[in-house]
Amino acid sequence: MAGRYEQVYAAAKADPEGFWAEAARALHWTKPWDRVLDASNPPFYRWFAGAECNTCYNALDRHIEAGHGERIALIYDSPVTNTIRKFTTLELRDKVAKLAGALQAQGVQKGDRVIIYMAMTPEAVMAMLACARIGAIHSVVFGGFAPRELATRIDDAKPKLIIASSCGLEAGRVVEYKPLLDQAIEMAAHKPSSCLVFQRPMYVGPMTAGRDFDFDAESAKAPPADCVAVQATDPLYVLYTSGTTGIPKGVVRQNGGHMVALNWSMKNIYGVNPGEVYWAASDVGWVVGHSYIVYAPLIAGCTTLLYEGKPVGTPDAGAYWRVIEQHKVVALFTAPTAFRAIKKEDPKAELLKKYDLTHFRTLFLAGERADPDTVKWAEDALGKPVIDHWWQTETGWPVASNCMGIEVLPVKHGSPTRIVPGYDVKVLDDDGHPVKAGDIGNIVIKLPMPPGCLPTLWNNDEGFKKSYLARFPGFYNTGDAGFIDEDGYIFIMSRTDDIINVAGHRLSTGGMEEVLASHPDVAECAVVGVADALKGQVPLGFVVLKAGVTKPEEQILRELVQLVRERIGPVAAFKQAAVVKRLPKTRSGKILRGTMQKIADAQDYRLPATIDDPAILGEISEVLQPLGYAKRP
Ligand code: COA
Ligand code: AMP
Repeated sequence: MAGRYEQVYAAAKADPEGFWAEAARALHWTKPWDRVLDASNPPFYRWFAGAECNTCYNALDRHIEAGHGERIALIYDSPVTNTIRKFTTLELRDKVAKLAGALQAQGVQKGDRVIIYMAMTPEAVMAMLACARIGAIHSVVFGGFAPRELATRIDDAKPKLIIASSCGLEAGRVVEYKPLLDQAIEMAAHKPSSCLVFQRPMYVGPMTAGRDFDFDAESAKAPPADCVAVQATDPLYVLYTSGTTGIPKGVVRQNGGHMVALNWSMKNIYGVNPGEVYWAASDVGWVVGHSYIVYAPLIAGCTTLLYEGKPVGTPDAGAYWRVIEQHKVVALFTAPTAFRAIKKEDPKAELLKKYDLTHFRTLFLAGERADPDTVKWAEDALGKPVIDHWWQTETGWPVASNCMGIEVLPVKHGSPTRIVPGYDVKVLDDDGHPVKAGDIGNIVIKLPMPPGCLPTLWNNDEGFKKSYLARFPGFYNTGDAGFIDEDGYIFIMSRTDDIINVAGHRLSTGGMEEVLASHPDVAECAVVGVADALKGQVPLGFVVLKAGVTKPEEQILRELVQLVRERIGPVAAFKQAAVVKRLPKTRSGKILRGTMQKIADAQDYRLPATIDDPAILGEISEVLQPLGYAKRP
């Protein structure tokens, strides 16, 4: 007899509309849907067409109406400011309603965009929910991005208003966000009509009269706003993510399908119940933060934990254990990098012995490949299941996982286990034919995708089709390569585009190349992601200088590192580049980035048949060795 996982998977496949309609009944709708799935305009599919709802109502007010107003909705734990604050559902709802009132007082209405550029404080969560409450579309920009990146997003999203923190706190330094915001507004062609600034005591930012308003003062004087019903198919948010060029893609998330999928995932994938404490140690600027710090736990009636700190150094490698014990966390979701960092500082997990983690049930890892060594280490240290799961900004929730609330399947190290019910995943060769079990190919998802996944890109239907649907008609192309084995376990091996994953942060090497190419002394360049023991991957630049450049190479390299930091931001972690005489290319002029990456990582590679001049590869290897790359053990 098929196991429970097989049964649920088969049920979702046989009758997707029935399956998701059932899941949707757990939530509150101000108007029921006309159709569960509107498939009348492929490849654009719409879930819960005709329905009306409000995501903030479902995350907060619904629980209050059900008598859970005194339940803790949000715990803020900030070792960098020595602060712990707790908010009941009622308190959080009231703060969100006042902030939503302040947004309305500034003229923000349903459908308007609001950019949020904030540090990891409760006010960031309130800002997101306040937008959701009045039907405004938020777009959160991660604090580690530089003004130019923020400006690009301002020009694409065209926000009526921006909510910003005055500063963020990073490893012993205060990052002044407000001046970065001012520079970004200066650079952008679109100007917001106003900004709400959340002033933190560590740095009080300058205010532009008539444009900038104080977050606290405006909230305090505003009348609380009620929830505004929106179409289930109206966007809740736009989240920009790296694409194959320097221009980020605005992933759209619609209200209805999103809350249904996330609510379902909390019980079925994460195995977490209402009233339990769930912690996603990420940042609200990333999709993990949107889905699993803010929306999913709150919609499911859990207590969510917002952590402003790092896995190490705040104050030590026992920080995660301390938080789990102190707040009775039952499930933690983080990136493998965090565990590599802990393992590096405390290889024998000595600090763990100081804490009681008996109540803790599961560790979930995602955002980058979970290397078997790290998974094994975490399993041994915790003595609890360690679940690798795979998804991306575009899908908004897991595509492959061991579904802890359905049936716990045996773990295979290196695999995020099986496909989550609702998704139909195939592995295709470059001509679009399915490959045999165990063979590597392009990982695609059959259309229509389940609720919650992106319906399109912001104001860019054509870009959506071109980026994701054109290559394999009838399928969404994930951009990941890998295989599915005989047992149906999926293995994610690499990207098929220029995206790299640095400490779980998704970045485009194409974007970095655009920055390097803008340096006056650079004739040509390439950036590849090379293996890094802590961050998984880090970017490494190769530049060919223009003829006649006399400036010392070291100075140019320093300028390049600084340029990427200024233009993209510190999060790019671009720290190393090398000057080479030429770049290896095919006879048609395509730069052989994959081969360069393999040389840097000292992996075996096949000499590309179309290579223009094989001798260049030896030169690349020689340049890399003094930098610590291209070394065989
Ligand atoms: N605002 C401003 N700057 C930021 C920032 C923010 N919100 N977040 C990161 N930065 C800066 C850092 O200070 C660092 O700057 P530096 O070059 O001056 O040191 C740079 O961006 C790179 O940051 P990060 O990738 O976090 O590296 P780190 O060396 O500071 O920390 C880890 C390394 C492993 C501890 C850290 O990456 C981590 O905790 N990872 C956990 C995984 C995670 O959160 N993933 C998110 C997706 S799930
Ligand atoms: P992001 O959109 O930032 O969440 O990044 C998504 C990308 O990260 C995926 O397309 C993968 O390349 C990678 N990724 C996420 N989770 C995993 C995982 N569990 N294993 C391997 N790669 C992963």
